[in-house]
Amino acid sequence: MTASISFRNVSKVTTHVLQEMKLKGEKIAMLTAYDYSFARILDSTGIDVILVGDSASNVMAGHTSTLPITLNEMIYHGSSVMRAVKRALVVVDLPFGTYQGNSKEALNSAIRIMKECGADAVKLEGGKEILESVDRILSAGIPVMGHLGLTPQSIHKFGTYVVRATDKEEADKLVEDAHLLEKAGCFAVVLEKIPAKLGELVTRELKIPIIGIGAGRYVDGQVLVLHDMLGITLEFSPRFLRRYHNLSEEIRGSVNSYINDVKTLDFPNEKEQY
Ligand code: KIV
Repeated sequence: MTASISFRNVSKVTTHVLQEMKLKGEKIAMLTAYDYSFARILDSTGIDVILVGDSASNVMAGHTSTLPITLNEMIYHGSSVMRAVKRALVVVDLPFGTYQGNSKEALNSAIRIMKECGADAVKLEGGKEILESVDRILSAGIPVMGHLGLTPQSIHKFGTYVVRATDKEEADKLVEDAHLLEKAGCFAVVLEKIPAKLGELVTRELKIPIIGIGAGRYVDGQVLVLHDMLGITLEFSPRFLRRYHNLSEEIRGSVNSYINDVKTLDFPNEKEQY
């Protein structure tokens, strides 16, 4: 049975709207965007949250991890998205190396994102170890989204992209970190690639919205990378990914038709010239 879809009748999605959605059991839909054109399409659908993820490092720049992307590059992507979006809440990732270990630098990075992009919030990866940075950013009045579980900025510590928190020790730490982030004042937490039961437990225990990516169905909302769910990036196929389209095939088809039309002198025709 398909559940009925409710779109919040608001002109702007805020962190308070998301909190209300959790209270009422309305699921939160979030997708990534990194540029003006896609962000404009996404915002016109009524999507709740747009994440300018540091996955731009992979998807837009072709790096093999999220580590190389810089703060200036995130600001470029964030401000492009913000020029398009009127309704959705826009969250911008703080990139690797701009907040870990130095809360003053963390605050400066978050302030640059808010000032130069006009974003609504920032997202940081980690729990206890980044709490001082989270506190400092929050005390400046900047909304913070947490990110636990598989945190891609720590890939060199993990060594692999396998499911996280499958053992009790890591699961207990994740639950503790989630509580710490909530207590600090984060407005939501992303849980990435963890067992569904753990996602459910954290969602039950926390009052703030939990957004999952590979964290099962019993969370408050879901996020996917836009280029993955549209089938633009084909090399990435984790179990949690549902592909809604095979856009790379469609684009290839259109480009092949164009090449053919140009080479056979079919394009441009009489009506397509001055
Ligand atoms: O950067 C990103 O796209 C993310 C999502 C995977 C949650 O952080």
